[in-house]
Amino acid sequence: MGQPDIRRMTISTLQQACQQGGRIAALTCYDATFASVLDEAGVDVLLVGDSLGNVIQGQSSTLPVTLDEMIYHVRCVERGTRRAFIMADMPFGTFQISPQETFGNAARLMAAGAQMVKIEGGRNMAETAGFLVSRGIPVCAHIGLTPQSVHQLGGYKVQGKTVNGARQLREDALLLQEAGVSMLLMEMVPAALGGEITRSLSIPTIGIGAGAACSGQVLVLHDMLGISPGSLPRFVRNFMTGADSIQTAVRNYVEAVRLGEFPAREHTF
Ligand code: KIV
Repeated sequence: MGQPDIRRMTISTLQQACQQGGRIAALTCYDATFASVLDEAGVDVLLVGDSLGNVIQGQSSTLPVTLDEMIYHVRCVERGTRRAFIMADMPFGTFQISPQETFGNAARLMAAGAQMVKIEGGRNMAETAGFLVSRGIPVCAHIGLTPQSVHQLGGYKVQGKTVNGARQLREDALLLQEAGVSMLLMEMVPAALGGEITRSLSIPTIGIGAGAACSGQVLVLHDMLGISPGSLPRFVRNFMTGADSIQTAVRNYVEAVRLGEFPAREHTF
Protein backbone atom coordinates (compact mmCIF):
# COMPACT_ATOMS: atom_id res chain seq x y z
CA MET A 1 0.00 0.00 0.00
CA GLY A 2 1.29 3.47 -0.88
CA GLN A 3 2.35 5.72 2.00
CA PRO A 4 2.61 9.50 1.83
CA ASP A 5 6.24 10.50 1.39
CA ILE A 6 6.15 12.87 4.33
CA ARG A 7 7.64 12.12 7.72
CA ARG A 8 5.51 13.06 10.69
CA MET A 9 7.20 15.24 13.27
CA THR A 10 8.15 13.41 16.45
CA ILE A 11 9.34 14.57 19.82
CA SER A 12 12.91 13.74 18.69
CA THR A 13 12.68 15.79 15.48
CA LEU A 14 11.24 18.72 17.42
CA GLN A 15 14.03 18.50 20.00
CA GLN A 16 16.70 18.21 17.28
CA ALA A 17 15.30 21.24 15.45
CA CYS A 18 15.54 23.29 18.66
CA GLN A 19 19.08 22.09 19.38
CA GLN A 20 20.04 23.33 15.91
CA GLY A 21 18.61 26.76 16.73
CA GLY A 22 15.23 26.31 15.03
CA ARG A 23 11.99 27.57 16.52
CA ILE A 24 8.80 25.53 16.86
CA ALA A 25 5.67 27.05 15.31
CA ALA A 26 2.56 25.72 17.04
CA LEU A 27 -1.15 26.58 16.76
CA THR A 28 -4.29 25.22 18.30
CA CYS A 29 -6.49 23.18 15.98
CA TYR A 30 -9.81 21.43 16.43
CA ASP A 31 -10.94 20.01 13.07
CA ALA A 32 -9.69 18.20 9.97
CA THR A 33 -10.04 21.05 7.46
CA PHE A 34 -8.00 23.52 9.49
CA ALA A 35 -5.59 20.70 10.36
CA SER A 36 -4.77 20.19 6.68
CA VAL A 37 -4.38 23.96 6.10
CA LEU A 38 -2.00 24.25 9.08
CA ASP A 39 -0.15 21.07 8.14
CA GLU A 40 0.47 22.29 4.59
CA ALA A 41 1.58 25.71 5.86
CA GLY A 42 4.34 24.05 7.89
CA VAL A 43 2.96 24.39 11.43
CA ASP A 44 5.05 21.96 13.49
CA VAL A 45 2.70 21.27 16.40
CA LEU A 46 -1.10 21.23 16.38
CA LEU A 47 -2.44 21.59 19.91
CA VAL A 48 -5.93 20.21 20.31
CA GLY A 49 -6.48 22.57 23.18
CA ASP A 50 -9.31 22.64 25.66
CA SER A 51 -9.66 26.25 24.46
CA LEU A 52 -12.15 24.54 22.16
CA GLY A 53 -14.51 25.11 25.08
CA ASN A 54 -14.25 28.83 24.35
CA VAL A 55 -13.81 29.05 20.59
CA ILE A 56 -15.88 26.06 19.40
CA GLN A 57 -18.46 25.61 22.14
CA GLY A 58 -18.93 29.25 23.21
CA GLN A 59 -18.29 28.48 26.89
CA SER A 60 -16.89 31.18 29.16
CA SER A 61 -14.01 28.94 30.35
CA THR A 62 -12.31 25.65 29.54
CA LEU A 63 -13.71 23.93 32.63
CA PRO A 64 -16.78 22.25 31.06
CA VAL A 65 -14.80 20.45 28.31
CA THR A 66 -15.03 16.67 28.62
CA LEU A 67 -12.61 13.88 27.75
CA ASP A 68 -15.03 12.48 25.14
CA GLU A 69 -15.18 15.89 23.45
CA MET A 70 -11.38 16.11 23.40
CA ILE A 71 -11.15 12.61 21.92
CA TYR A 72 -13.60 13.55 19.15
CA HIS A 73 -11.53 16.63 18.19
CA VAL A 74 -8.20 14.75 18.36
CA ARG A 75 -9.62 12.20 15.89
CA CYS A 76 -10.74 14.99 13.54
CA VAL A 77 -7.35 16.73 13.66
CA GLU A 78 -5.43 13.49 13.17
CA ARG A 79 -7.36 12.79 9.96
CA GLY A 80 -6.33 16.16 8.55
CA THR A 81 -2.58 15.94 9.17
CA ARG A 82 0.39 14.20 7.60
CA ARG A 83 3.41 16.03 9.02
CA ALA A 84 2.44 18.01 12.13
CA PHE A 85 2.94 16.70 15.67
CA ILE A 86 -0.34 16.37 17.57
CA MET A 87 -0.57 17.39 21.21
CA ALA A 88 -3.82 17.03 23.18
CA ASP A 89 -4.93 18.80 26.33
CA MET A 90 -6.13 16.71 29.24
CA PRO A 91 -9.32 18.48 30.28
CA PHE A 92 -10.18 19.63 33.79
CA GLY A 93 -10.90 16.77 36.19
CA THR A 94 -9.23 14.05 34.11
CA PHE A 95 -5.70 14.17 35.55
CA GLN A 96 -5.98 15.45 39.13
CA ILE A 97 -7.33 12.41 40.98
CA SER A 98 -4.54 9.85 40.68
CA PRO A 99 -1.67 8.97 38.34
CA GLN A 100 -3.42 5.65 37.57
CA GLU A 101 -6.68 7.28 36.53
CA THR A 102 -4.74 9.90 34.56
CA PHE A 103 -2.97 7.14 32.64
CA GLY A 104 -6.30 5.58 31.62
CA ASN A 105 -7.59 8.95 30.38
CA ALA A 106 -4.34 9.90 28.61
CA ALA A 107 -4.26 6.49 26.91
CA ARG A 108 -7.65 7.27 25.31
CA LEU A 109 -6.28 10.54 23.88
CA MET A 110 -3.21 8.72 22.55
CA ALA A 111 -5.38 5.99 20.97
CA ALA A 112 -7.39 8.75 19.26
CA GLY A 113 -4.23 10.04 17.56
CA ALA A 114 -2.40 12.32 20.00
CA GLN A 115 1.39 11.99 20.19
CA MET A 116 1.66 13.82 23.51
CA VAL A 117 -0.69 14.99 26.25
CA LYS A 118 -0.54 18.37 27.97
CA ILE A 119 -1.37 18.80 31.63
CA GLU A 120 -1.71 22.07 33.50
CA GLY A 121 0.22 22.46 36.73
CA GLY A 122 3.65 22.70 38.29
CA ARG A 123 5.38 20.57 40.93
CA ASN A 124 1.97 19.23 42.05
CA MET A 125 1.77 17.39 38.72
CA ALA A 126 5.36 16.08 38.65
CA GLU A 127 4.49 12.66 40.07
CA THR A 128 1.61 12.20 37.61
CA ALA A 129 3.76 13.35 34.69
CA GLY A 130 6.50 10.89 35.71
CA PHE A 131 3.93 8.07 35.93
CA LEU A 132 2.75 8.72 32.36
CA VAL A 133 6.26 9.13 30.94
CA SER A 134 7.49 5.90 32.54
CA ARG A 135 4.60 4.11 30.83
CA GLY A 136 5.20 5.48 27.35
CA ILE A 137 3.09 8.65 27.20
CA PRO A 138 5.05 11.83 26.37
CA VAL A 139 3.97 14.83 28.43
CA CYS A 140 4.03 18.59 27.95
CA ALA A 141 3.58 20.48 31.23
CA HIS A 142 1.75 23.83 31.17
CA ILE A 143 2.79 26.42 33.78
CA GLY A 144 2.28 30.14 34.36
CA LEU A 145 -1.32 31.09 33.67
CA THR A 146 -3.18 27.79 33.78
CA PRO A 147 -6.71 28.57 32.52
CA GLN A 148 -8.29 25.55 34.27
CA SER A 149 -7.32 27.23 37.59
CA VAL A 150 -8.82 30.60 36.61
CA HIS A 151 -11.03 30.71 39.70
CA GLN A 152 -8.12 30.00 42.01
CA LEU A 153 -5.88 32.52 40.23
CA GLY A 154 -8.61 35.17 40.34
CA GLY A 155 -8.62 35.84 36.59
CA TYR A 156 -6.50 35.58 33.46
CA LYS A 157 -3.48 37.42 34.87
CA VAL A 158 0.26 37.47 34.21
CA GLN A 159 2.01 35.00 36.54
CA GLY A 160 5.53 35.05 38.02
CA LYS A 161 5.70 38.82 38.48
CA THR A 162 6.84 38.70 42.12
CA VAL A 163 10.21 37.40 43.30
CA ASN A 164 8.48 34.44 44.98
CA GLY A 165 6.19 33.74 42.04
CA ALA A 166 9.12 33.74 39.61
CA ARG A 167 11.18 31.45 41.89
CA GLN A 168 8.29 28.99 42.13
CA LEU A 169 7.93 28.85 38.35
CA ARG A 170 11.69 28.36 37.87
CA GLU A 171 11.63 25.50 40.41
CA ASP A 172 8.48 23.97 38.89
CA ALA A 173 10.10 23.91 35.45
CA LEU A 174 13.18 22.06 36.74
CA LEU A 175 11.11 19.58 38.79
CA LEU A 176 8.91 18.80 35.79
CA GLN A 177 11.94 18.29 33.55
CA GLU A 178 13.41 15.98 36.19
CA ALA A 179 10.10 14.07 36.27
CA GLY A 180 10.54 13.39 32.55
CA VAL A 181 8.30 15.84 30.68
CA SER A 182 9.61 16.42 27.17
CA MET A 183 8.16 19.90 26.61
CA LEU A 184 7.12 22.85 28.76
CA LEU A 185 4.45 25.36 27.79
CA MET A 186 4.53 28.73 29.56
CA GLU A 187 1.54 31.04 29.41
CA MET A 188 1.52 34.75 30.34
CA VAL A 189 4.79 35.13 32.21
CA PRO A 190 7.24 38.04 31.93
CA ALA A 191 9.47 37.68 28.85
CA ALA A 192 12.65 37.81 30.96
CA LEU A 193 11.42 34.90 33.09
CA GLY A 194 10.36 32.91 30.01
CA GLY A 195 13.90 33.32 28.65
CA GLU A 196 15.54 32.44 31.95
CA ILE A 197 13.49 29.25 32.31
CA THR A 198 14.15 28.27 28.68
CA ARG A 199 17.92 28.63 29.17
CA SER A 200 17.80 26.57 32.38
CA LEU A 201 16.20 23.56 30.63
CA SER A 202 17.33 21.04 28.04
CA ILE A 203 13.76 20.39 26.81
CA PRO A 204 11.97 22.76 24.38
CA THR A 205 9.70 25.47 25.78
CA ILE A 206 6.63 26.80 23.98
CA GLY A 207 5.47 30.27 24.90
CA ILE A 208 2.14 32.03 24.71
CA GLY A 209 2.69 35.49 26.12
CA ALA A 210 6.06 34.32 27.51
CA GLY A 211 8.48 36.22 25.29
CA ALA A 212 10.56 35.58 22.19
CA ALA A 213 13.29 33.58 23.92
CA CYS A 214 11.13 30.42 24.22
CA SER A 215 12.02 27.54 21.87
CA GLY A 216 8.68 27.95 20.12
CA GLN A 217 5.38 29.81 20.16
CA VAL A 218 1.73 28.85 20.20
CA LEU A 219 -1.44 30.88 19.67
CA VAL A 220 -5.11 30.04 19.66
CA LEU A 221 -5.97 29.70 15.94
CA HIS A 222 -9.11 31.84 16.13
CA ASP A 223 -7.16 34.62 17.91
CA MET A 224 -4.41 34.82 15.27
CA LEU A 225 -7.04 34.82 12.52
CA GLY A 226 -8.75 37.74 14.30
CA ILE A 227 -12.13 35.99 14.55
CA SER A 228 -12.36 35.51 18.32
CA PRO A 229 -15.07 37.70 19.82
CA GLY A 230 -13.94 40.63 22.00
CA SER A 231 -10.57 42.31 22.11
CA LEU A 232 -7.43 40.27 21.49
CA PRO A 233 -5.05 39.63 24.39
CA ARG A 234 -1.80 41.64 24.31
CA PHE A 235 0.26 38.58 23.30
CA VAL A 236 -1.74 37.96 20.09
CA ARG A 237 -1.02 39.34 16.62
CA ASN A 238 -3.82 39.23 14.05
CA PHE A 239 -2.06 37.57 11.10
CA MET A 240 -5.05 38.15 8.78
CA THR A 241 -4.10 41.82 8.67
CA GLY A 242 -2.51 42.27 5.25
CA ALA A 243 -3.00 38.59 4.27
CA ASP A 244 -5.25 37.66 1.34
CA SER A 245 -6.16 34.21 2.66
CA ILE A 246 -6.09 32.03 5.76
CA GLN A 247 -3.31 29.96 4.14
CA THR A 248 -1.16 33.08 3.74
CA ALA A 249 -1.87 34.24 7.30
CA VAL A 250 -0.79 30.87 8.69
CA ARG A 251 2.35 30.77 6.51
CA ASN A 252 3.21 34.32 7.68
CA TYR A 253 2.81 33.16 11.30
CA VAL A 254 5.14 30.17 10.74
CA GLU A 255 7.74 32.41 9.12
CA ALA A 256 7.47 35.10 11.81
CA VAL A 257 8.00 32.50 14.55
CA ARG A 258 10.91 30.84 12.73
CA LEU A 259 12.64 34.18 12.12
CA GLY A 260 12.08 35.31 15.71
CA GLU A 261 9.92 38.23 14.51
CA PHE A 262 6.93 37.07 16.55
CA PRO A 263 6.39 37.79 19.37
CA ALA A 264 7.65 41.36 19.20
CA ARG A 265 8.17 43.54 22.24
CA GLU A 266 4.58 44.80 22.15
CA HIS A 267 3.26 41.23 22.54
CA THR A 268 5.21 40.52 25.72
CA PHE A 269 4.94 41.32 29.42
O1 KIV B 1 -6.11 25.09 25.25
C1 KIV B 1 -5.32 25.87 24.74
O2 KIV B 1 -5.55 26.45 23.67
C2 KIV B 1 -4.06 26.12 25.40
C3 KIV B 1 -3.30 27.32 24.92
C4 KIV B 1 -3.75 28.52 25.66
C5 KIV B 1 -1.86 27.11 25.03
O3 KIV B 1 -3.71 25.45 26.31
